[in-house]
Amino acid sequence: SKNYKIAVLPGDGIGPEVMKEAVRVLDAVAEKFGFSTEKEWADVGGIAYDHFKHPLPESTLKTGEAADAILFGSVGGPKWESLPPNLQPERGALLPLRKHFKLFCNLRPAKVYKELAPACPLRADIVGDGFNILTVRELTGDVYFGQPKGREGSGKDEIGYDTMKYSRYEVERIARFAFEAAKGRRNKVASIDKANVLTTSVFWREIVKEIHDNEFPEIELENLYVDNAAMQLLRRPRDFDVLLCPNLFGDILTDECAMLTGSMGLLPSASIAEGSFGLYEPAGGSAPDIAGKGIANPLAQILSVALMLRYSFKEEEAAKAIETAVEKAISAGYRTGEIWKEGDKKVGTTAMGDAILSFLK
Ligand code: NAD
Ligand code: IPM
Ligand code: MN
Repeated sequence: SKNYKIAVLPGDGIGPEVMKEAVRVLDAVAEKFGFSTEKEWADVGGIAYDHFKHPLPESTLKTGEAADAILFGSVGGPKWESLPPNLQPERGALLPLRKHFKLFCNLRPAKVYKELAPACPLRADIVGDGFNILTVRELTGDVYFGQPKGREGSGKDEIGYDTMKYSRYEVERIARFAFEAAKGRRNKVASIDKANVLTTSVFWREIVKEIHDNEFPEIELENLYVDNAAMQLLRRPRDFDVLLCPNLFGDILTDECAMLTGSMGLLPSASIAEGSFGLYEPAGGSAPDIAGKGIANPLAQILSVALMLRYSFKEEEAAKAIETAVEKAISAGYRTGEIWKEGDKKVGTTAMGDAILSFLK
C-alpha cells in the first residue's frame, strides 16, 4: 500500500501544540483511507537555534530533502528576534526553506463557515451566506528575495534597503497557476499590484494581462491596487474568487482574509513547487501571546494536513474527510477561545483535536 514520507517540523510557540493535533488527525485518516506515513521529526526555527546554533540545521534540511512533503508549524518569537538576520527563525529558516525547495506558489484558501459568520468582523449584510477566496501568492521572489538588500553607513547617513524585483518567468508561472485555479472555481481573478507607483508592478500587470489575453481569455480579470484591494475585501468580500498576489502584498492581504474568516487560527496554506513536493503550514505565526497555554486553535494546522493530502499525495478523499470533520465540529459548536461566544462549546487545543477525531469516524 502507499507510504508517504513526511518531514514534521513543529517549530516554535504554538507550533508544537497545534502540530500534535494535526498529526493525530493525519494518523486517523491514514488508517481510515488505507495509506501509511513515515514521519521524521526535526527542529526548525528558534528551537533549532537553541539546540544547534542555527535555525535551519543541515540535518533538518536533509530530513526535508528525504521527504515527500514537509508539514511545518510556525517559527519565531521574541527570544530570537535580536539575533543577526541570518540566524533569525524567519529569515534563517522559513525563507531559505521556501527558496531551497522552490516553493513558488502559496495557496491560502479563506472560507467563511456559515456558523462562523458571527466571528467575522464584518456586518451580516456584507458577509451574507459567506465568501470563498483563494489567494495565490507568489512566494520566492519580490522584495523578500530581491538583491541587493542591506544596511550601510552610520549615524545620520545610515541607510537600509531591499529590492523589489520580479522576472518575467516568475510572473508568468504564478499567473498561469492563478488562472488555472480560477477555472475550477468561479472563473475570476483579481490581480493585486501597486502599478500607480512601482515599476515592478507595471511589469507584473502587463505580464498578467498577456497571459490572460493569450491563454485564459474566458477568465474574468480585474486589476486592483493593493490599498484599494485591502478596502474592497472589507466592502465586498463575496465578489472575490482568486486573488493573485506578489509575495509581500499576498502576505498582508492573507492576514486580512484570515481575520475575515473569524481567526488567524483558521487559515491553512500550501506552499508548492513544480511537481508534487510541498510545505504545508498555517498562514499565522507562532502566536507568542498564547503559546504554552493549550488554547491555540489547531484548525489551520489540521486543514494544512488536508492540503498536503490533496496537493502532494493526491489523496482527495482523505483531504475532504478532514475538511468535512472540521465543518462538522464547527457546526456542532466547538470553538477555541479566540472565536468562542456565549452558547458555544469552549475547547482547548487538544479537545478541538478530539472533536475533529470524533467527527472523522
Ligand atoms: P501571529 O500570527 O503569530 O499572531 C497574531 C495574532 O493571531 C495573535 O494575537 C495570536 O494569538 C493570534 N493567533 C495566531 N494563530 C492563532 C491560533 N492558531 N489560534 C488562536 N490565535 C492565533 O503573528 P505575529 O504575532 O505577528 O508573529 C509572532 C511570531 O510568529 C513572529 O516571530 C513572526 O515572525 C512569526 N510568524 C511566523 C510565521 C510562520 O512560521 N509561518 C507566520 C507569521 C508570523
Ligand atoms: C507568512 C509569514 C512569513 C512571510 C514570515 C514569517 C517570513 O508572515 O508565512 O505569512 O512573511 O511570508
Ligand atoms: Mn504572514
